[in-house]
Amino acid sequence: FMVDKGNHRHFMEKEIYEQPEIISHALGNYIDFAAHTVKKNDTAIDFGKVSGLAIAACGTAYLSGLIGKYWFERYARLPVEIDVASEFRYRELPLSPSQAALFISQSGETADTLASLRYCKDLGLKIGAVVNVRESTIAREADAIFPILAGPEIGVASTKAFTCQLAVLAALAIGAGRARGTVNADDEKAMVKHLAEMPRIMSRVLNDIQPEIEGLSRELSRFKDVLYLGRGTSFPLAMEGALKLKEISYIHAEGYAAGELKHGPIALIDENMPVIVIAPHDRFFEKTVSNMQEVAARGGRIIFITDEKGAAASKLPTMATIALPNVDEIIAPMIFSLPIQLLAYHTAVFMGTDVDQPRNLAKSVTVE
Ligand code: G6P
Repeated sequence: FMVDKGNHRHFMEKEIYEQPEIISHALGNYIDFAAHTVKKNDTAIDFGKVSGLAIAACGTAYLSGLIGKYWFERYARLPVEIDVASEFRYRELPLSPSQAALFISQSGETADTLASLRYCKDLGLKIGAVVNVRESTIAREADAIFPILAGPEIGVASTKAFTCQLAVLAALAIGAGRARGTVNADDEKAMVKHLAEMPRIMSRVLNDIQPEIEGLSRELSRFKDVLYLGRGTSFPLAMEGALKLKEISYIHAEGYAAGELKHGPIALIDENMPVIVIAPHDRFFEKTVSNMQEVAARGGRIIFITDEKGAAASKLPTMATIALPNVDEIIAPMIFSLPIQLLAYHTAVFMGTDVDQPRNLAKSVTVE
């Protein structure tokens, strides 16, 4: 089949802007927009009965799984063991057939993820595949397929597959919570409403932040190192931000849990390493702001990605503050993905790299 870039300069840009529409379509598979409920999960995996989850994936898919872990643990009270597939498959971790295993993969062909799947299958676990390509090997070998319905993703750096993976994992975690009695009908309704409103918010954000992010990216492209910080679900997002930036702009970037700043990266803080702080005004906000203070006190430059409440609550000087609309915490990771993707994208454009085909990287890694 043929996919073209439409009016966009790169597939990556097109895929970023497609997200509101695509995610709405993906969500339609998992939630009932009229009833504000999660659709009944009639797959081979009964989240109400399993004793725990194991998740393995690579790259961006691993980072969506890490956010999924926070959700399954918090909303469904299900313990989640997660690792990058290249470690998972060799760790000999104690697993039991009472657990289910989820393998997240855009392509459904990543060698290490597939090997981890086969490892769990041999141990008798029920296997779920969170995949974009339904005809893939990982989908074929799974007991249950949870399609992310993102459509073909051409840019090597994953964008829409990431947010669709998140949307699917959020719906699965809420559904698991319902099945386990840890999410009541009112909470389900409230969370599903937020998910249903998300595509519209995404469109607005994409439209509003573009000029600001482009200006900021021009500045960012002058630096050699960037640190991303976040807490809670913003921690995997910080790692995803760093991954995206390094993949396509070739600027060295690291994502760190904000609370770990003191245990290492603080030694690197100076005016030459911008610190991108991802901090919605959630229950971690004050803690993250105190980490930001530590950065500011050492002459670090801060790029503050927050929401309107967060922007109003912090008086610290920043290099830039991106204030997104205030949104519920269940959708914050998807909304906050947008500035992170655009920042990496525009920085790479300023650097003049091959955005859709970055050097040394492959869209799908089918060798170990
Ligand atoms: C490669 C791609 C990444 C992707 C990872 C996992 O590294 O460049 O964008 O996240 O593989 O791929 P998968 O198809 O399993 O999601």
